[in-house]
Amino acid sequence: KHINWDPISAEKQGYKHFMLKEIFEQPARIVDTLRGRILLDRADVDLSEVELDAEWLAQVQKLTLIACGTSYYAALVGKYMIESIARVPVEVDLASEFRYRTPIVTENTLCVAISQSGETADTLAAMKLARGLGAKGLAICNVIESTMARETDGVLYTHAGPEIGVASTKAFTTQLAALGLLAVWLGRRRGTLDAEQAAVHLDALRTVPTAMEEILTDLEPYAEIAREFGQAHSFLYLGRGILYPIALEGALKLKEISYIHAEGYAAGEMKHGPIALIDEEMPVVVLAPRNGVYDKTLSNLEEVKAREGKIIAIGADDDNELRRLADIFIPMPEVAEVIQPLVASVAVQLIAYYIADFKGTDVDQPRNLAKSVTVE
Ligand code: G6P
Repeated sequence: KHINWDPISAEKQGYKHFMLKEIFEQPARIVDTLRGRILLDRADVDLSEVELDAEWLAQVQKLTLIACGTSYYAALVGKYMIESIARVPVEVDLASEFRYRTPIVTENTLCVAISQSGETADTLAAMKLARGLGAKGLAICNVIESTMARETDGVLYTHAGPEIGVASTKAFTTQLAALGLLAVWLGRRRGTLDAEQAAVHLDALRTVPTAMEEILTDLEPYAEIAREFGQAHSFLYLGRGILYPIALEGALKLKEISYIHAEGYAAGEMKHGPIALIDEEMPVVVLAPRNGVYDKTLSNLEEVKAREGKIIAIGADDDNELRRLADIFIPMPEVAEVIQPLVASVAVQLIAYYIADFKGTDVDQPRNLAKSVTVE
C-alpha cells in the first residue's frame, strides 16, 4: 500500500506555515530559555555559562547593544529593560551604522551583539570592531557554535530551536526573555537591584508563557483585521516606552510578509509628522496595555480617532474605554510592564500573519529576503 507522506507538512505539524507553527511554539521556547537560569531562593539569575568576570561586570560603565533587523528591535527593548532594572547606561546601534562611525568604546564597555543566526556580516564586524577597541563582547545568540558564538568573550544562548520562517518570531521573543535575565543579572552583580525588586521581575518573567498561551487562544480578531484591512495600502503602528520597539517590529513584520507599507512610530511623536497621514483609509495599530504611559497613549489614540483613523487596539481585556475607541480590539492579559513587549509581540506577529495569508503571499519565504544575511 502506498502511503502519502510529505516531509515538509510533517515538519509543520499541521500548521499551514512554519511561521504560524513558530508563533504558537513561543510559550514553550520561553520556558526553554528561562529554564535553569532563575534562582528563586536567591532572587538571582544564574548566567555562570556566560563566563564574564563578576568583578569586571560590577564596574562596567556602559553597554552597547548592536544588531540588525528584528534583533535590533530586541536591542531597543533591551535598553528599556537594562536601564530601568540595572541602572547602567545603554547605547543601541544598528550594526551597519556602528561599524562605520567612530563609536566611543572603552575597556569598561560591554558590547552585546544580538543575533539569531550568529552569522550576520554587519553584526560580526561590529562586534569585532568593539572588541578591537577594548570592549568585552557578549553574544545573545540562537545557534550553537555559530561564528558569533566563537568570536566573542561570552555567549548567552536563546533556546528558540531552529527558526525556519524568514520573518523572525520565536527568536525575537526568546531574545527579549534573555535580555530580561541579563538585566536582572547585571543589576544583582552591580548592586543596583535588591533581592525584593529582583524577585518581582523574575516572577514577571515566569508568567510570560502562560500569558502568551492566553493571547493565543483568541484568533478571531486577526481574521477580522485581515478581512477589514487586508487591502489597505499603508498601516501605522503606535507604541510608547517599552512598547515603542514593538510598534517598530509590528510594522516590520507586516512589510516583510504582506508587502504592505507600514511605519512604526513612538506615539508621542505622531504630532510631529505622521498625524498628517491619518484619514478614514488609514489603519492604526495601537499598543495600549495599562502601564506607566497608558494615559499618554490613550490621548494619542484620541487624536487618531478625531481624524477618523481606523483603530486596532491591543490592551487589557477589561479596558472598556479602549474597547469603545477601537474598531477592532485585541485583548491581552494584564501583565507587568517589563514583559508586555513579549506578550504584545504575539499579537503583532498574528496581525501580519493573518493579513499575509489573506493576501496569499509566500509567508515563509518572502520575496527578496534571506533568513541570514552573511554578506554586506
Ligand atoms: C535577516 C532576517 C531577519 C533578521 C535579521 C538579523 O534580515 O530576515 O529576520 O532579524 O537578518 O538576523 P540575525 O540572525 O543577526 O538575528
